[in-house]
Amino acid sequence: MDLKGKKAIVFGGTSGIGLATTRMLADAGATVVAVSRDPSKATNLPEGVTTAACDVQDREAVAAVCSAAGPYDVLISAATGGPRAAGPFMEMDLDAYQNSFAKVWGYANVLRQGVSHLKNDGCAVLVSGAPARKARPGQVAISSAGGAVEALAKCVAKEIVPKRLNVVSPGVIDTPMFGPDEAKRKEMTSNATKANLIPRAGTAEEVAQAIMLVVQNDFMTGVTVDVDGGWLNS
Ligand SMILES: NC(=O)c1ccc[n+]([C@@H]2O[C@H](COP(=O)([O-])OP(=O)(O)OC[C@H]3O[C@@H](n4cnc5c(N)ncnc54)[C@H](OP(=O)(O)O)[C@@H]3O)[C@@H](O)[C@H]2O)c1
Repeated sequence: MDLKGKKAIVFGGTSGIGLATTRMLADAGATVVAVSRDPSKATNLPEGVTTAACDVQDREAVAAVCSAAGPYDVLISAATGGPRAAGPFMEMDLDAYQNSFAKVWGYANVLRQGVSHLKNDGCAVLVSGAPARKARPGQVAISSAGGAVEALAKCVAKEIVPKRLNVVSPGVIDTPMFGPDEAKRKEMTSNATKANLIPRAGTAEEVAQAIMLVVQNDFMTGVTVDVDGGWLNS
């Protein structure tokens, strides 16, 4: 797909991986709508990118934003969708575990409301996470939610042909998801990546590059691309 003159909508497009993707789409010549609950928080959005405020848990709001933006060529969700529980399953607050699936419900809302406005030769992308297929102790919640995202995408990709749907699965990436304190974030992400083949946190841009690949390659659908510094193989 040549992105010049194309239109894209990016849920979670105001921070981290979604923001890096918004920037790359705009650089490639696409018109981009970046969506989040509070897009006014976003700094350094490229010129020409428009924003919309919407919580991915609110189906009517998602439907309204997609309908206003459509038809579009690219539909992306990198919206975290809600908090995820951490810690061992046997000690975990089960309500917090259940709430960790907010990411899945948000993605489901975006696909359900958004795919009908996606052009037939368009591409949708969701972002899962490396623990979906290789979890360390204490990661049961993010692993289960990530696994559900990948299963959701594989099933839906078959049902929306000729529209394409892919997943990008990041390892540990240094983004505001880990909090505003840069020093704490660096310490946390570097501890979490010590055992990886590439022992450092990834950047939002490194993940966005993979999102751009699955968008632009018209022969890719129903796949998950790992951008994890070797997390799965270490
Ligand atoms: N960073 C990592 O190490 C990592 C690893 C694996 C997977 N991931 C996944 O990658 C995706 C992007 O993460 P990130 O690191 O880029 O996070 P981030 O920097 O915190 O960005 C999250 C984005 O999602 C938006 N958002 C969150 N909840 C939302 C909701 N309920 N409705 C609408 N928008 C919402 C946020 O904006 P508002 O606050 O304004 O709503 C923000 O734009 C997430 O699904 C995350 O689980 C990240």
